[in-house]
Amino acid sequence: MIKENINSINKMIKGTVTEKLLQKCLDWLSDFVFSYSDPDPAIQENYDIKRIHTYKVREEIKFLGKELGLKNDALRLAEIIGLFHDLGRFEQYARYKTFKDNLSEDHAALGVKIINDAGLLASFQELPASIIRNAILFHNRLSIPEGEKDPYLFYEKLIRDADKLDIWRVVLKYYYRGNDKINKEIEWTSTQSTAISKKVLEDIHNKRSVLTKHVQNLNDFKLLQMAWVFDLNFEISMEEVKKRKYLEKMRDTLAQSAEIDKVYNILISHSIGD
Ligand SMILES: [Fe+2]
Repeated sequence: MIKENINSINKMIKGTVTEKLLQKCLDWLSDFVFSYSDPDPAIQENYDIKRIHTYKVREEIKFLGKELGLKNDALRLAEIIGLFHDLGRFEQYARYKTFKDNLSEDHAALGVKIINDAGLLASFQELPASIIRNAILFHNRLSIPEGEKDPYLFYEKLIRDADKLDIWRVVLKYYYRGNDKINKEIEWTSTQSTAISKKVLEDIHNKRSVLTKHVQNLNDFKLLQMAWVFDLNFEISMEEVKKRKYLEKMRDTLAQSAEIDKVYNILISHSIGD
């Protein structure tokens, strides 16, 4: 990211996202996330996961934003995007008891609807308000739609990286949980298999994100998550992946096989910039 671009984003957003506005968002969010609860511990666990994820993504996006040079209002705007990016997850889970958008509805669009219905952006100026809406709307797409431009594009990229950095934490915590308790919303698929689907391998060999429709079993799903390294927007995000040893830890949850070694090497080489 060129320094001049960041400076111009700082300038554009200057004066539009006050500390008070951020505090108002935090206050609203706290009531919102705690309004979702369930006596069933398995259901409650998923609300908890999303609540913790929400606040962690705020931290991740603040960290990335700062490292990239965002300041004051422009940095607070990033924090608000982090805080609001998964609002739709709570309502999606309440209504459908699933996090699968294809079996329920697009949680990003649902999040924007919640924002609009609650009038959350009423005291925002037009530019930061539409940046928030776009960044949320596109955060879960396979890729950002063509034609997006800064300052929108910058925030759209930023939330996608921040989100991934924390999802890796969530899934690793689950893969290393040390018991057999299955959370089918994290595992995505209940199909246990030692195989890896051909199409998943193909995606990785072609250095592209794995399509969810190619995922047939848990191994595939793990590889889909590892292949997110092809979809990181900023070097600093990749630096964090390396520092936290996300790829190594994910690989250790997979079986030993030449096939897996091969794709793992592709992913690791990509992460070190080969
Ligand atoms: Fe998220």
